[in-house]
Amino acid sequence: EQATKAGFPHFMIKEIFEQPKSIEETLNRRVHNGIIDFSDVLSDDEINKFDMIHIVACGTAYHAGLQGQYALREISRINSLVEIASEYRYMNPFVNENTLAIFVSQSGETLDTLAALKEAKSRGAKTLAITNVVGSTISREAHNTIYTMAGPEIAVASTKAYTTQVTIFQLLAIYLAEKKGKLTKEKVEKLVSSLYSIPEKIKTTLDNTEIIKNVANFMKDKHNGFYIGRGVDFATALEGSLKMKEITYIHTEAFPAGELKHGSIALIEPGTPVVVIGMQSNLLEKTISNIKELKARGAHIITVARKSCEEAIDVSDEFIGVEDIEDVFSVLLAIIPLQLLSYFTSVDKGIDVDKPRNLAKSVTVE
Ligand code: G6P
Repeated sequence: EQATKAGFPHFMIKEIFEQPKSIEETLNRRVHNGIIDFSDVLSDDEINKFDMIHIVACGTAYHAGLQGQYALREISRINSLVEIASEYRYMNPFVNENTLAIFVSQSGETLDTLAALKEAKSRGAKTLAITNVVGSTISREAHNTIYTMAGPEIAVASTKAYTTQVTIFQLLAIYLAEKKGKLTKEKVEKLVSSLYSIPEKIKTTLDNTEIIKNVANFMKDKHNGFYIGRGVDFATALEGSLKMKEITYIHTEAFPAGELKHGSIALIEPGTPVVVIGMQSNLLEKTISNIKELKARGAHIITVARKSCEEAIDVSDEFIGVEDIEDVFSVLLAIIPLQLLSYFTSVDKGIDVDKPRNLAKSVTVE
């Protein structure tokens, strides 16, 4: 077991550090000479036919689905619905032969996701799996499968599978936009080259973990906290919060930044940690004013934003800067410090990081 950790103390930290490589391999699998190709899983006829996309998953894969919805809306202007798999199968969904139904599952074995897939398939939808495990049950059941190239993910808390799932959605959004004539060739080239810059930009965060270790040291004695963000940063907040709960047992909740004041702000006390994700440029000003509201009530503000974001630095107690990139892709940079924060907090608390209590890597019961 030690050998496969490649010198890292835990699988989770090894897998966090593998993300530049796994994202690059996921890009390489789908991009050839700068051209994105999903024609093996989705024909032009199918693309012309569907009028709705359903994205269905559980846990972290569901959060990747939320990121997918945002990319499909922003880049391709395609309408989609994201649902929790255990709800989807019982909700009498509006799904038919004009629906493209995408099922996201790292393991490809999650029973709720599999059952939802069967439901959509039986109602005539075209089904597409996004999974990390070749030959898994979900990949066999779906009409077609897109594989993430994350390699085996051992730690219970998902990291590299998540970022490769998000990468697939971003590529798919660009591909569909181009097919539907919504992006010029030049714009596609620009977006693809921007995606290729992500691995190096992630490395900058991985090379500077000291600040994150300091924040973890502050977090370890806390019993509750919040994660907030606007737009797609809210999906990142959900995933950051889930990571914290899974491996540190600290109760955290994620909110759209503007929603916290509608009730839950009553829980803020002096020293309550609030992790703010501030990557959406057009919403930054609003997020800063939310930070001020929270600070006025004593919250301890930990912000993840672009390195150059002076406004955020000024109002934060702790600031974790990431590299600059288009807003829609910035989610892949912002999640890295959140994964690291959970990891270091878990280690500080002496928790079994790779095998936290009550959790299984894949859940094959309902
Ligand atoms: C379990 C794991 C989660 C995971 C979820 C979905 O609950 O503990 O980390 O996100 O299943 O797993 P999947 O393999 O379908 O992505």
